[in-house]
Amino acid sequence: MIVLGIESTAHTFGVGIVTDERENFILADVRVKYVPERGGIHPREASRLFAERGPEAVARALREAGVGIRDIDAIAVALGPGMGPCLRVGATIARMLASYYSKPLVPVNHAVAHIEIGLKITGAQDPVVVYLSGGNTAVLAFVKGRYRVFGETLDIALGNLLDTFAREVGLGPPYVVEGMHVVDRCAATGRDFVDLPYVVRGQDVAFSGLLTAAIRAYRRLAPRGKGGDVCLSFREVAYGSILEIAARCLAQTGKREVLLVGGVAASPILRDKLRAFSEFYGVKMHVVPPKYAVDNGVMIAWTGLLAFRCGITIPVEDAVVRQRWRVDEVEVVWRSRGC
Ligand code: FE2
Repeated sequence: MIVLGIESTAHTFGVGIVTDERENFILADVRVKYVPERGGIHPREASRLFAERGPEAVARALREAGVGIRDIDAIAVALGPGMGPCLRVGATIARMLASYYSKPLVPVNHAVAHIEIGLKITGAQDPVVVYLSGGNTAVLAFVKGRYRVFGETLDIALGNLLDTFAREVGLGPPYVVEGMHVVDRCAATGRDFVDLPYVVRGQDVAFSGLLTAAIRAYRRLAPRGKGGDVCLSFREVAYGSILEIAARCLAQTGKREVLLVGGVAASPILRDKLRAFSEFYGVKMHVVPPKYAVDNGVMIAWTGLLAFRCGITIPVEDAVVRQRWRVDEVEVVWRSRGC
C-alpha cells in the first residue's frame, strides 16, 4: 500500500509518500517552509506561499518516490488543528487530487500524526507522550482507544513561549541557531536563580504569567549583566513544570516509556532533562529525531496509511478543516483493533 500525505497546518507545506511494503517506509519527503520576515507566522502570507508552491511540491514528491499518481492508494490530509488559511490550502489540494483521480481521502489529526511518526521511528510501544511544539504543549497517553490528554497548557504553548520571550527581549529571530534555541544559548551564561512564577494548575501548566514576569525581569536585569540568569530561570521554570505533569501521568498510567515529540523535541537541553527524568523514574526514553520532530508530510502519510488500513476515509464534501480538532476526539482504531 502507498499513501500520499499532505501537511499544511502552520509554517510547512509538506508532502510525504510512504509504504507499508518495506522496512524503509519513506518514499518521498518534500517540504516548503514559510519563514516570516519578522514576528510570528502570518497565516495569510503562509497560505499564499503554500498555494503558489503546493502543486509543484506534490509533483516533486511523486518524482522523488518514482511513482505515478495511479500507484497511490489513498490521499491523506491534515485537517487540523492549525491555522485556517494554511489548512485550507492543503485540504483543497487533497480534495482535488482525491476527486480528480478517484482516490480515497483519509482525514488525519496533526497531533495524532506527531505521535504516530514518533512511535514508528523510535519503536516506542506504549509511552507517555510529551508533545511540545510551537503551537502545542501536552502530555498524553493511549488509554481506552484514544490518546488522552493528561495535562496541557492553559494558554500559550512552549515553543511560542520561548520565541515570544526571545523576540520581546531582542534575542531573536532567528530563534534557533545551530540547533539550539537562543533562550538556551542565553541560559548557558546564567548562574543565579531569579524568582519567576511557576504555575501548575491541577494537571495543567500555564505560561502567560511566566512570560510577562520574565520579560520584565530581563529588561531590568540585562543592563546589569544578569540577562543570562533570567534566561536560565525562565527555561528551568518552563521545562520543569512540563516534566512535573509528565511525572504525574507516569504515576497515573503506570507506563514504562516516555516519548518526546513535536518541534521543540529538537532542543538538546530538553532532551538532557528528559534523560535525567527517565533515569530517575526508571523508564525508557525515546526522542523523535529532529528531522521528523518538526512538521512534515511523512507523518501525515504514515498516520493516513494506518487509518486507511482500518477503512477510515471521508467523503470529499465532508473534508473540511477543523482548526481546533482535539487529539482526544480521534478514535485510534489501528491501535485498539490492530487492523
Ligand atoms: Fe506540529
